[in-house]
Amino acid sequence: MGAYAEAYRRSLADPEGFWGEAAGLIDWTHDPSRTLDASSAPFYRWFPDGEMNTSANALDRHVESGAGDRLALIWDSAMVPAKRTYTFGELRDEVAGVAGALAALGVGKGDRVIVYMPMVPEALMAMLACARLGAVHSVVFGGFAAKELAARIEDAQPKVVVAASCGLEPGRVVAYQPMLEKALGMSAHRPAHTLMLQREGHPADLSLPGYVDWAEAVSSAAPAAPVPVASTDPLYILYTSGTTGKPKGVLRTAGGHAVALAWTMGAIYDIQAGDVFWAVSDVGWVVGHSYIVYAPLLIGATTVVYEGKPIGTPDAGVFWRVVEEYGVKAIFTAPTAFRAIKKVDPKAAELAKYDVSTLKTLFLAGERLDPETYRWASEMLGVPVVDHWWQTETGWPIAANPRGLEPMPTKPGSATVPVPGWDVRILDEYGEPVGAGREGEIVIGLPLPPGALHTLWGDDERFIASYLSRHEGFYHTGDSGHFDEDGYLFVMGRIDDVINVAGHRLSTGAIEAALATHPAVAECAVIGVPDPLKGQLPYGLVVLKAGVEQDEESLAAELIAAVRRDVGAVAAFRDVSVVPALPKTRSGKILRKTMRGIADGREEPVPATIEDPSVLDAIAPVLRHRAER
Ligand code: COA
Ligand code: AMP
Repeated sequence: MGAYAEAYRRSLADPEGFWGEAAGLIDWTHDPSRTLDASSAPFYRWFPDGEMNTSANALDRHVESGAGDRLALIWDSAMVPAKRTYTFGELRDEVAGVAGALAALGVGKGDRVIVYMPMVPEALMAMLACARLGAVHSVVFGGFAAKELAARIEDAQPKVVVAASCGLEPGRVVAYQPMLEKALGMSAHRPAHTLMLQREGHPADLSLPGYVDWAEAVSSAAPAAPVPVASTDPLYILYTSGTTGKPKGVLRTAGGHAVALAWTMGAIYDIQAGDVFWAVSDVGWVVGHSYIVYAPLLIGATTVVYEGKPIGTPDAGVFWRVVEEYGVKAIFTAPTAFRAIKKVDPKAAELAKYDVSTLKTLFLAGERLDPETYRWASEMLGVPVVDHWWQTETGWPIAANPRGLEPMPTKPGSATVPVPGWDVRILDEYGEPVGAGREGEIVIGLPLPPGALHTLWGDDERFIASYLSRHEGFYHTGDSGHFDEDGYLFVMGRIDDVINVAGHRLSTGAIEAALATHPAVAECAVIGVPDPLKGQLPYGLVVLKAGVEQDEESLAAELIAAVRRDVGAVAAFRDVSVVPALPKTRSGKILRKTMRGIADGREEPVPATIEDPSVLDAIAPVLRHRAER
């Protein structure tokens, strides 16, 4: 049996032995005497009596073992432009200072802190400072609108918000303070303070109530030591899109998270202490949490923090410039970034200008990797291109090519094989297993491995209803797919109303809620339609109230503005059609899947449950027209 097959077998047959051994990858202030407590299932508790601190594991222990002078963080902003580096010793000291400043504002174990910052080193410091105090961070992506920020503030009830004065997008400065003030105005909860990082040239107004200057507070704070927390204490909440407009607060606990992430760096990414790892994402997404911040630092690798885009900042050679400049060993990003590079530089002329010989692997995730992009990236780079599949909820890859454990041959279109720890099965809608080659719902047998979500913040019932109640004993991923005869997993797409726009996960429900605020709209539906660059784009169909007379162009402009106002620029909502009615089942459910299929250019069967087939006939040409564009 190969190393992968043996590890996979053992992880499922003897999860306690497997993860008990992996627990040795981190330092515990109190060693766990047990690996798994299933007595409170489905709220499984990994390393139940262990005590540790994630920030100490990411920073202090490397300093204490003599690696204090090794680079921990390289910041490269293509936007300012600017560069800065921190050794493990320097980053530990910075984080201890920020933790001290937060403690002085009253933040302690279990308190929530919203982090609303762009890709600057201080964002990582804020997260690690929370972990140092045993406080629970919740990072909010800068591309969301104030309403989304308000929803997160209300749900997490933070004691403090940590923010930066602005983010930098191509051609515009995104001022964070007005957005934050607007969100605070909408939220019933008001944090006591906002710790504000002033970015050069774009300061926030610190005279407003509650604001504290980052630089002043950190320089005057007493450095805070790491606070030991229970392995089962919460480390962070990360909100992600569900099928309704209300975001789900994925809650991750400390011990299992650190163990699992440390294990993945070797087993999947083949990255060791001292290697340079570059996850090109944003700290607002799970990829940023796991692979910009925690995983590389936990094992003593160097993380690259990049502020910029794959193209246009300044050109399509920026990835290769960063690889050469810092000796990057592996890149991790979303396929859309490579589609963007391919579009402007199809022959990879920029690549030829740089020495990228340190690059050993390209990892892609966040959305389906189309075979054409896979082939292009493989040919241009001449290194293995690894498609791997995971979710905010799982925190680390469910299926991958485990490069460190045993490199496997790749198959275009497949995320390769289930990673040890994940008991991946394919079921039909009645919960019966389906054989190789047949598509079905992808589910995962319980217990989920360490590092997966523990519950949804403050809402155990929604956790069970969303993920565990569809098929008894299994976690419902919301994705469909199949295994082939060789046990390779092919992930085909969501079976719910979650869409993926440029690797950003969005809820069609949230976009629909924004459209519904328009006074002319009686009813609406949003579906994801294919896009050659961003993978998917949202497409809105609206039915107008009787008697409304507004030209379609001005209506569309107002609807687009409403989505930008309520969901954010990141939704990239630009396409809406007015239709006479929406097709529904007899019980009133909008037939989104059928519409999605037609807009995807497929012949869709008319569902037996349809209320009025003539409605579908009436809008089919609109959807087909969309497919042809
Ligand atoms: N703060 C504020 N606004 C943001 C933002 C942020 N952090 N990130 C994106 N936006 C805005 C953009 O400015 C843009 O606004 P616009 O409509 O005014 O132009 C909008 O949200 C859409 O942004 P984006 O998805 O980045 O699209 P783009 O057209 O600017 O760039 C790509 C396209 C492919 C280059 C870009 O999506 C990309 O780099 N993707 C990489 C994938 C990635 O990081 N995925 C994360 C998960 S791994
Ligand atoms: P997020 O929670 O933002 O990471 O989004 C998770 C969703 O993105 C998954 O449920 C999938 O639908 C999709 N996804 C992520 N990675 C892949 C992949 N490698 N292949 C196909 N879909 C993916």
